[in-house]
Amino acid sequence: MKLIDGKQIAAEIKEELKQKISELKSSGKNVPGLVTILVGNNPASEVYVRNKGKACEEIGMRSKSEKLSADISEKELLDLVEKYNHDKDYHGILVQLPLPKHINEDKVIEAISPKKDVDGFHPMSIGNLVIGKETFVSCTPAGIQELLIRYGVETKGKHVVVLGRSNIVGKPIANIMLQKKEGANSVVTVCHSAAKNLADYTRQADILIAAIGQPKFVKADMVKEGVVVIDVGINRIEDATKPKGYRLVGDVDFDDVASKALMMTPVPGGVGLMTIAMLMKNTYKAYLLYGE
Ligand SMILES: NC(=O)c1ccc[n+]([C@@H]2O[C@H](COP(=O)([O-])OP(=O)(O)OC[C@H]3O[C@@H](n4cnc5c(N)ncnc54)[C@H](OP(=O)(O)O)[C@@H]3O)[C@@H](O)[C@H]2O)c1
Repeated sequence: MKLIDGKQIAAEIKEELKQKISELKSSGKNVPGLVTILVGNNPASEVYVRNKGKACEEIGMRSKSEKLSADISEKELLDLVEKYNHDKDYHGILVQLPLPKHINEDKVIEAISPKKDVDGFHPMSIGNLVIGKETFVSCTPAGIQELLIRYGVETKGKHVVVLGRSNIVGKPIANIMLQKKEGANSVVTVCHSAAKNLADYTRQADILIAAIGQPKFVKADMVKEGVVVIDVGINRIEDATKPKGYRLVGDVDFDDVASKALMMTPVPGGVGLMTIAMLMKNTYKAYLLYGE
């Protein structure tokens, strides 16, 4: 079994972007910029936003972090998004989710200009993805496809089985793999909690993408010999031997499934690390398409 190393690929992507940004700088051009907007002080969100800022810094991209108090009004947040829609120094706008309950998330996402929607959550971006037009694809599913491409996994005509139909992973990755394009052109099945006899589907997968949030759910008897497994799940399970009292596992029982798989992503060290790298890539793309 060959390990699909998300850490290495994410580092490669960031290095490629760093080179390109350095060339822009030396020719005196403006550089890509990302603004992150965080509302409130959810500790997990604070870590995510900090890591995004750090990644920008590493590759020489401009970044700014707007931190707003949890009681900011929806109108104030919408006004701030609108301000950045017109700011030429910031090509990507990322509003960290979740937002406090009194703010309508959909309204905020829809307020972001589709030209700066580097998270790919705007309905326009999603619509464009479905109809196969060039767009911003949300970062985790885009990262999955990037891993498959960079590991030379044949996808054309292959059966991709996706576990999970969330708007941020399951549905977009299913739509990506369905496109008549390089790195896709697959036959796609999407399973969810109403599926009966799930293993009947998963055993048919050439490529299995698990995004259900259920620790070690996929076992060896649910896959066929030679499957390529992409494990998106990030689940905490108790582990008294760890200083924090827990460890992270995926939706796939790694040790069990490894005996049958051709390639697999680990958790951690797989898909998770790709998300920020793809955010950087999307911001660079926004700069190329709509920036200067
Ligand atoms: N950067 C990253 O690496 C990254 C990013 C996002 C998410 N994740 C991880 O990926 C996992 C999924 O995240 P998500 O946001 O997509 O989750 P989600 O919104 O909770 O959706 C889970 C999906 O899995 C389905 N499901 C749950 N249990 C199932 C079962 N036993 N059998 C079949 N389907 C089942 C649900 O079906 P229904 O629709 O019928 O409820 C739903 O469609 C989580 O562990 C999350 O932490 C990682």
